[in-house]
Amino acid sequence: MLHSKIVGLGHHVPDTVITNDYLSSRMETSNDWIVERTGIHERRWMNPAEDTVANMAAKASRIALQRANLSEKDIDFIVFATITPDYFFPGSGVLLQRELGLDGTIAALDIRNACSGFIYALSVADQFIKTGKFKTILVVGAEIQSTALDITTRGRNTAVIFGDGAGACILQASAKPGILSTHLHSDGRFAEELYVKDPGSSRPHEERQPDQILDTSTYKVVMNGNQVFKHAVVRFTEVIEEALNANSLKTEDISLLVPHQANLRISQYIQGKLGLSDCQVYNNIMRYGNTTAASIPIALSEAWAEGKIKENDLICLAAFGSGFTWASALIRW
Ligand code: COA
Repeated sequence: MLHSKIVGLGHHVPDTVITNDYLSSRMETSNDWIVERTGIHERRWMNPAEDTVANMAAKASRIALQRANLSEKDIDFIVFATITPDYFFPGSGVLLQRELGLDGTIAALDIRNACSGFIYALSVADQFIKTGKFKTILVVGAEIQSTALDITTRGRNTAVIFGDGAGACILQASAKPGILSTHLHSDGRFAEELYVKDPGSSRPHEERQPDQILDTSTYKVVMNGNQVFKHAVVRFTEVIEEALNANSLKTEDISLLVPHQANLRISQYIQGKLGLSDCQVYNNIMRYGNTTAASIPIALSEAWAEGKIKENDLICLAAFGSGFTWASALIRW
């Protein structure tokens, strides 16, 4: 039986560090409020002269390839998770392909499942490897959230949370597992609890013409923070337990839980609920904020580089976000 294994990880974040004090100079908020409610101390924002979603993804991908001792030419397929593509269409997958010099030689697929996007992408790649269709797949999560944030007091509940960055992993066919299982869920009843409305297509023609748009607030992130929080803590816990049960494993078997970095209080709640120790959970939201589909691969890449992931460890990934969508993956490293 074919299995899939992560053989390389990489990440890249923009150079520009945005502190809580900087945000406090632009809106009514404070370092204390942000740290207490979210755990975030700083985040990175793109530099318009330098960063695009695709080129940050390419930088992360090259690091992952180098760590896997592979080159661009070894990639059979790209799965790219983002909700902030460089263009409305096409998606960033083909742009990454172009950045990597793989034009016309392989296929690229785009996934837009928000904060759960990376696990959805990993799950798709896992299926392609297990069926024998592809041998080496580049799976990426990358986002530029900063340019869609409302950097005024009106947008403070989202402006302080989100950040930019990219993470990548190389998934390869292997005789030994690997990815033990993935678990995907969604519930569209809550779509408008966390969303960006425009440029939506189901609008009268005149409302979609740039020179007619007077109110641009529908292009900004809208979030009902309390609702998201309440659902997140339930779904995160459920989907981690689902993954453990599917593999007849227990919480004490987890070497490291790498949760989507939504909010430090959400991670701490899940940790308490599952009875995990501090060294069983990896968080880096303090430095990067919530980077949506990029948060898990950035965290995984950092945890690996810090020596916190070793061979044979049991790694659990879990995410919750817009849609709502939620997902988990259990990996034997
Ligand atoms: N600075 C200061 N005050 C702020 C603020 C900010 N950045 N953002 C909101 N507030 C205010 C609100 O206006 C409200 O004021 P009011 O009581 O006068 O109306 C007050 O703080 C409390 O707001 P509330 O939304 O209840 O705060 P909260 O404790 O729920 O924290 C979030 C807000 C957004 C941090 C929290 O709901 C959260 O983290 N939700 C989950 C978000 C998430 O994870 N999103 C990504 C999902 S993948």
